[in-house]
Amino acid sequence: MSLFNAPFDPATDTALVTGAGNGIGRAIAQALVGEGVRTVFADISAERVNAAISASERPERAVPWVGDLAGLEACDALLAASHAALGEVTHFVHSASPPRREADHALAVDRRTWAEMHAVNLDAGFHLARGLAKRLIAAKRPGSFLFLTSLHAGTPRNLPHYSTAKAGMAMLVKELAKTFGRHNIRVNALVPGAIAAGGFVADASLARHIPLGRLGEAKDLAPMALSVLSNKLSGYVTGAAFVVDGGLSLTNWFEPPMLEE
Ligand SMILES: NC(=O)c1ccc[n+]([C@@H]2O[C@H](COP(=O)([O-])OP(=O)(O)OC[C@H]3O[C@@H](n4cnc5c(N)ncnc54)[C@H](O)[C@@H]3O)[C@@H](O)[C@H]2O)c1
Repeated sequence: MSLFNAPFDPATDTALVTGAGNGIGRAIAQALVGEGVRTVFADISAERVNAAISASERPERAVPWVGDLAGLEACDALLAASHAALGEVTHFVHSASPPRREADHALAVDRRTWAEMHAVNLDAGFHLARGLAKRLIAAKRPGSFLFLTSLHAGTPRNLPHYSTAKAGMAMLVKELAKTFGRHNIRVNALVPGAIAAGGFVADASLARHIPLGRLGEAKDLAPMALSVLSNKLSGYVTGAAFVVDGGLSLTNWFEPPMLEE
């Protein structure tokens, strides 16, 4: 059998994807149902969730959920709805994040915007992952969790609420990977570069700083996401961060050499 054949078992694997209404989360959720994995599409926007499911290859494998993950009660409601619909949730992707606005720099960002960014990215990510893990541990089932972090976990973005939330998530991945590893629950980070996906308003001129010569698209993230989520393909991988950025993070004050054609 081919190594890459059937990375998931639709009879036992189930998934929850937050931020599944748009961008990267949507591409990953759609790819999971495309593999036959029953998947909860969770997002704050009903319109986006419904559109994402309708545009999926196999909408009958999708379960919609709509709510604001800035509140822990909503996280509890999502856990309850996911377990009711799927039983144990073996695969978790945390992609939901409030919009980034360039105006929210260090002197301008208000308390509410700061708190919401941390609540959705970090607090909800922790609360959901822990809730899912408790059930998996009790059921002695393996799991695989993936957090969407950012290059700005390690380098400033001029948006301190965003970069600090992502830095917290990067450490959360390591904490959870270490704690859950002995229960066969893997936890990893996916680190996108400049992805014209909705959450990032891309300036096309940025492409000249990217070694592969173009901005990314949400669909560029899905194959790596599924590879890391798959216990068949990545069963010995945990606590790792996978950068999918077309080489953007290699850029510094040295231009690459001009090579003769
Ligand atoms: N696009 C990029 O270039 C890029 C780069 C680095 C990291 N990321 C990260 O990847 C993830 C996805 O990015 P994207 O650009 O696809 O984002 P996006 O804005 O296109 O999608 C985010 C989704 O989260 C949902 N959401 C927002 N607030 C919510 C809330 N309170 N409760 C529930 N759902 C909520 C939105 O409705 C939206 O559908 C984010 O975590 C982002 O920080 C993106």
